[in-house]
Formats: sequence, C-alpha cells, structure tokens
Amino acid sequence: MSLTKHAKLNAWIEEIKAMVEPKEVVLCDGSQAQYDKLMAEQVECGMATKLNQDKLPGCYLFRSDASDVARVEGRTFISSVNEEDAGPTNNWRAPAELKEEMKALYKGCMHGRTMYVIPFSMGPVGSDIAKIGVEITDSAYVVLNMMIMTRVGNKVLDVLGEDGEFIPCLHSVGKPLENGEADNGVWPCAPIEKKYITQFPEEKTIWSYGSGYGGNALLGKKCFALRIATTLARNEGWLAEHMLILKITSPEGVVKHVCAAFPSACGKTNLAMLIPTIPGWKVETIGDDIAWMKPGKDGRLYAINPEAGFFGVAPGTNYKTNANAMYSASKNTIFTNVALEADGTVWWEGMDDAPKGELIDWKGNPWTYPENGKSEKGKEAAHPNSRFTAPAANCPAIAPDWEDPNGVPVDAILFGGRRPSTVPLIHQSLNWNHGVFMGSIVGSEVTAAVISDQVGQIRRDPFAMLPFCGYHMGDYFAHWIKMGQANPDKMPKIFFVNWFRKTKEGKWLWPGYGDNSRVLKWICERCDGQGKAVETPIGYMPTVDAIDRPEDVSEEDMKELLSVDVEGWKAELKDVKENHYPKFGAKLPKELSEIIDMIQARLNA
Ligand code: OXD
Ligand code: MN
Repeated sequence: MSLTKHAKLNAWIEEIKAMVEPKEVVLCDGSQAQYDKLMAEQVECGMATKLNQDKLPGCYLFRSDASDVARVEGRTFISSVNEEDAGPTNNWRAPAELKEEMKALYKGCMHGRTMYVIPFSMGPVGSDIAKIGVEITDSAYVVLNMMIMTRVGNKVLDVLGEDGEFIPCLHSVGKPLENGEADNGVWPCAPIEKKYITQFPEEKTIWSYGSGYGGNALLGKKCFALRIATTLARNEGWLAEHMLILKITSPEGVVKHVCAAFPSACGKTNLAMLIPTIPGWKVETIGDDIAWMKPGKDGRLYAINPEAGFFGVAPGTNYKTNANAMYSASKNTIFTNVALEADGTVWWEGMDDAPKGELIDWKGNPWTYPENGKSEKGKEAAHPNSRFTAPAANCPAIAPDWEDPNGVPVDAILFGGRRPSTVPLIHQSLNWNHGVFMGSIVGSEVTAAVISDQVGQIRRDPFAMLPFCGYHMGDYFAHWIKMGQANPDKMPKIFFVNWFRKTKEGKWLWPGYGDNSRVLKWICERCDGQGKAVETPIGYMPTVDAIDRPEDVSEEDMKELLSVDVEGWKAELKDVKENHYPKFGAKLPKELSEIIDMIQARLNA
C-alpha cells in the first residue's frame, strides 16, 4: 500500500527503499505518541538516557561517537553541474560522479534498520513563505530531533496534497563501523573520508551520509534552510539567511523587528533571548539561527523563522549569560554530549554552579571536577559543541506572533563579529549597498585559541554564510544588492555591531549581554529617523551621549567604543581589497568596489 497520497513522493520512497534495503519503513505522523514510543525504544536499547523526570521532565541524553561531534565542512559539497556555480567558498564535485560514489555507500546501508520517512515544513505549516521537505533517515535520534526542530507529520502531508513541491532529503548514519552496529550506546557513523553532506542545487536534493550530528543530519537546518534555500531564494527573489530574529518593544509600545548575522560563537542565541538592562524595554525571541525574508505586497521585507526549536550550544550557557535558554532547555529537551550528574540531571562547562559530585562525561566515563574549577582542553566533561534541542515554544521570551505565517516586518539588519580592535561598538550604513558591503566583510579576529600562526588576522565569514551559501558567493553579494533596488526606501536599515572591543591591555570595553539592549535602543530610534548621530567616514555613528551608558563603562571607554580608528579602517579596507575580494574574481559586484573607493576617499579627506 502507498505510504502517502503523493505519487511522486511514493515513487521516491520506493526508489530509496530499493537502494538502502531497510528492515521496515515507518512514516512519521508527528504525534506525541509516536515521539514517546520512539524515545522509549531508544532508552530501551541503551542509545538514550532518561534524565531525572522531576527536575528535567521529558528530557533525555544522547551520546555520539567521539568522532561525530560537529559539522564537517571539508566533507560538505555543493554538487552543481558547473563548478563555477559553487564558487570559491564551497567544495565542489560533479553530480554524476558523486552520485555514483554515494550510491555505492547507500546500497544496502539500512540492512536490519528502520527507514523513517519524515515529512516536514520549514516555517509555519501552510505559510506562503514556508517550504516542505521530506527526510528519509535510519536514525531515530534524527527523527526525534526533527520533531522538535521542525513541524512534522500528517499536517505537512495534508498541505503537500497529491502534487505539492517537496525537497527530497536522504540521510543515513552509514554502514556500521568495523566492529558492527555500535553497542556502546552511541549512534553509528562512517569514518571521516566516507562522510558526505551533499547539496544538489539544480535537482533541489540533499544526500547526507555517514554522520548523525545535527548540522550534518537534521537536513531541514543548514542543508535545506540555508544551502538549498539560498539557491531557491536567488531564483525567487527573497533571502535565506543565517540570522536570528528578535522583536523589541519600547516603553511607549513601539515595536521593531531586528535580524542579525554573526559568525559562530558570537552570541546569536544570547542576543535573540536577551533580557534588557534598560528599564521598560522588552525583547522577545522569534528565531535564533535562520531567517527567511520575503518582500511583502507593501514592499517591505517580512521574516519567518523556518525552525520550530533551538539547537543550542550548551557550554557557556547559564542563568547569567542566557536565562531564557536555560528555561527553554528545562523540559522536553534532548541533550547531546553533555555530562550526566549522579542525580540524573546534566552539567556542562560554564554552568552557574560546580557539579554536585562525580559526573559521567560525554564519552560515558567517570569524571571528576578539577580542583581549580577549570576543565583541561580536550578533557571537558561536556563536549565543547554539546547541544540542547529544545522546542522554541518553551522559551519564556518567545514572541506571541513567532509563528505568524505572514512573517514579521524587518526594520533593521545587524552584522557583527569578534573584533577586538578597529570596528566600533556600532555604526550604521549610509545606504543599502554600503550595508551589503558591511555584510560582505563580516569576520572575526583569529585568537591564539584557534590557529596560532594567523593570530591577529581577520577570518572573513561574509554574512556569517561561509559554510552555508549554496552558490557562488559573488553572485550572492549581487543578489543582496539587487534586493535593495526595487524598494530602497522600504528596506531595513543596516548596522554593524561589535560587542567585543578590547583596550590595548586586553580588557573588554563593553559588558555585552543584557547591556546590548542599549545599542538596540539606538537602532530602534534610528529606524524612526531619530537617535542622535554623526556622519563619519565609515557611516552614521551615535554621539557619545546617544547611547545610555552602563554604570561600569566610563565616559572615556564610551568615547573609545564610538570613535573612528582612521588608520585601522585604512588597513581594513586594504585587507578587504587585496586579500578578501579578489577571491570572488569577476563575480564581485562593482557596487562593492565602489563602496571601498568611497570610504577610502572619505577616510583620506
Ligand atoms: C549552528 C552553526 O550550529 O551555525 O547553528 O554551526
Ligand atoms: Mn548557525
């Protein structure tokens, strides 16, 4: 009997089934009963640990193989027909050849396993901005996570009907490692050289093999909502971005919506869930990782969060840095690779308190808290990329309209990175193209903790999309420029923020976290044509008294935070011109070179 009413979907399911040869096929209906049954099976077979249900109701812990803990950018491919279309920032393989290679791995890879079929919607079911995918996987962990991160099941099939469009997403954790199906309570995976995370943009298809880790395996997230969606967005005239979405309300009740793109480890989730330190202001969360933005009939951009949950980094999250994330992950949450307390709760580095006693670390071994309170690098209790998968609805600060199918009108777009020097706390672009320039030069300074021979250099991550743009990055810049042309006056205002400025002695100049609301306040004012500002060579900047100064920031420091480092910017532009932009060759839009020339002239004036 056919699994669905959709002939093309049924045919694809049959085709994959014949290739991977599973023991059975299960359609995910999206019900709580199915979720509970699957989770109980995972506990039963030792793959999941049921946590303390009084303290963490509905919460479970999974552990991965020690080699399967993060996205594998070196094994991520854009398999477009022409290599040129993947561009200089992606790994490219020819589709025909790569498919043969991957088919050989998929052949019979689900022997003895269940093949799950997950119909899912990225975005509120039935929204004009939403899109449907169907993921086939042999990982129950993936099914359970997809049920939190996306909208899943029969309601999606209803919208798909008999001939609706869907993105086919194929996933397998891969043939078991040499020693057979993992029996040590971790999911199986393939060795690194056999992992493949492949996007076929022309076919609008995703094939992932050999990893069970979130970004490699929950195919709705980075693979669909960013890599495939960027190509759809380019063709259809919208934007698929690696951005949080927040709603901010002033004491007078004026509402603004802000999207923001920062490279990994710059606090996107923290900003999305910020608790303001300025009285009367309210910040609510709409999304913490991805924004799809489409022009509405009125010419403004409207954003939805295509996801339904948070896949957040656990270490460093605590009630001081992000209380809303802690509350979000306090029930019905899946933890991955965090440490286990004796009382069945979880612990990670950077939690508010030291652990209560001996722990079981993320590898399943006993672990004792070091006397100096600092875990040795490589010997942490929780893996540095350990995660919580929590329903967005759990977040106490979730905006009541976070699932509005029409999306929310975007007032401001922020870009930023970790820049100890040169880049001020905030500056506003002079126009849309200057804003696109700001996005194109996003990056973070390399610290000794990353790669020692590049310390001090800027690792560019344009639009925080380096590993997520599904086509040539030069064409992507051009698409951004084009998006501003139809209705320039209606487009969001663009800002560049930097919470990470340091003194020459290495002291943080800005407290960050809740105090970032002070910067958001100025942004809101600017969106209404207010907010005291001066026009500088690099853009509009607040006057020193335009931002409410936190008590622990001196007036001197504030001046430093809001000054233009003319020599620093000259060097910055030189670096962009000589080292960054040449990578995009003839595809670099001339508008971006013109912006460099303009700012250079202003700096020299
Ligand atoms: C993520 C990432 O996990 O950007 O969101 O890597
Ligand atoms: Mn992300």
